[in-house]
Amino acid sequence: MSGFLRTGKRRNAKALLTVLPSGKTVEVARGVNLLEAIAAAGEAVAHRCGGRARCGECHVLVRQGWRGLSKVRQAERDRLTQVCGAESLSRLACQAALGVHNKVIIELINH
Ligand code: FES
Repeated sequence: MSGFLRTGKRRNAKALLTVLPSGKTVEVARGVNLLEAIAAAGEAVAHRCGGRARCGECHVLVRQGWRGLSKVRQAERDRLTQVCGAESLSRLACQAALGVHNKVIIELINH
């Protein structure tokens, strides 16, 4: 779970996610990870390892709002390096949680 939920002050705040290429947009609670938010938007992304940063199938590209996502942790960084050579826009949807202060746009690449 994300560190976003620890502050409490904005606990009930929402984040806005747009999923490309469809352009579907969904408003979700702060702290929800991209995998959950993508599903809430009615889209699907593969996630064979169940969100443990092991399979790399949930790899997405962040087109806008990078700073509104939780920090990249070592397990995610290691997997991304193996999957795509650490493309600078890459995140694992199962590891990236949404913050509140911006609109995030991601692109599905393994759908
Ligand atoms: S679901 Fe396997 S790495 Fe994200």
